[in-house]
Amino acid sequence: MSKVEVSAIPLAQMRTHRSTKWRDFPGDVLPMAVAEMDFAIAEPIRALLLDMVSKSDLGYLGSVPEVATSFAYFAKKRWNWIVDPEQIHIVTDVGVGAVEVLRVLTTPGDKILINSPVYHNFSTWIDETHLTKVDVPFGDAQSGWAIDFAEIEKAYRSGIKVHLLCHPHNPLGRVYSREELLKFVALAKTYGVYIVSDEIHAPLTFSESEFVPFLSLGQDAQDVGITITAASKAWNLAGLKCAFALSQGPVMHAKLQELPEATHYRASLLGAFATATAFAEGSDWLDGALKTLDENRRFLKKILSEKLPTVGYEIPECSYLAWLDLSSLNVGQSPAEFLLNKARVGINGGETFGPHTGQFVRLNFATGQDVLEEAVNRILKAL
Ligand SMILES: Cc1ncc(COP(=O)(O)O)c(C=O)c1O
Repeated sequence: MSKVEVSAIPLAQMRTHRSTKWRDFPGDVLPMAVAEMDFAIAEPIRALLLDMVSKSDLGYLGSVPEVATSFAYFAKKRWNWIVDPEQIHIVTDVGVGAVEVLRVLTTPGDKILINSPVYHNFSTWIDETHLTKVDVPFGDAQSGWAIDFAEIEKAYRSGIKVHLLCHPHNPLGRVYSREELLKFVALAKTYGVYIVSDEIHAPLTFSESEFVPFLSLGQDAQDVGITITAASKAWNLAGLKCAFALSQGPVMHAKLQELPEATHYRASLLGAFATATAFAEGSDWLDGALKTLDENRRFLKKILSEKLPTVGYEIPECSYLAWLDLSSLNVGQSPAEFLLNKARVGINGGETFGPHTGQFVRLNFATGQDVLEEAVNRILKAL
């Protein structure tokens, strides 16, 4: 039994929200694309923000050691991972953090490895830093999205500078195992590759899976790795703008010291204190949110098996993004376009995440079960 019950805000109320999820589509569309949750935020964070706003405490961001100390506290408690607060650098968001870290680690033209399908902004960060993208895709769904280590080694050997990891993985919903991560570490050490691990979804790992922080893997991982993460995904605070990059050891610590000083000040005051509160006082809410998301990922499985049994869906190990194979529905080249036009369900098309997954869509299930059922009913009716 969770100490905090987290349930979805009713759809009519969500439709008054100002975030991009609620402005991207016309009012008759069910928006299930952007990765925000339709849940009320944790009470300690709400109280903090109300207090700051009511006191007009909205100035510039100075030193906020609470972000680092609270994350170190959370990492120890949640993952038994000892983090050095001195090696945490605040950045605006994970996107800005990734771009700034890549600027430190690379020069334009360097090769960077990704594994598609993957969070689409990996490509925008690569374009922004003028790097050359090399893609070693996962195997197909039948292979369980197998990691192609042989091709990855081949790519590393060809002179990759950075391997950008999505850990846990969006949109596949998988958590890399310790063995898989150690293989990356060994290869990275051999071929002189840096690994940047985007761990924004990590606190949302479901209890049956183990999330292994990249930098907890020991000295070799610490020599090659930088992690970028935030409280924003797990506690639903994306609009507040605060994330951080961290290292664990002298080699990468020295690299992070090269981040421009201004990177810190470009995060927001509300975001930094909300982040500190999330990690320090937000675990009960997080457990409540995970319980609701666990129910939703299973509910989605149940209604899909009843109403759209040919749709492929593996229950994800983390977060709230369902990766659905719609190829059996034969709805044309872009299932996402079909769903928007014919079912009025707004969803991310698989082509956004990589060149081989056009028949997939990504559906956000951090909403009410009534909304999930309505979405499935709309799709069924449109076929
Ligand atoms: C893997 C991953 N990284 C980063 C982000 C975005 O983070 P931010 O808003 O802090 O840039 C997302 C958002 O969904 C994501 O899924």
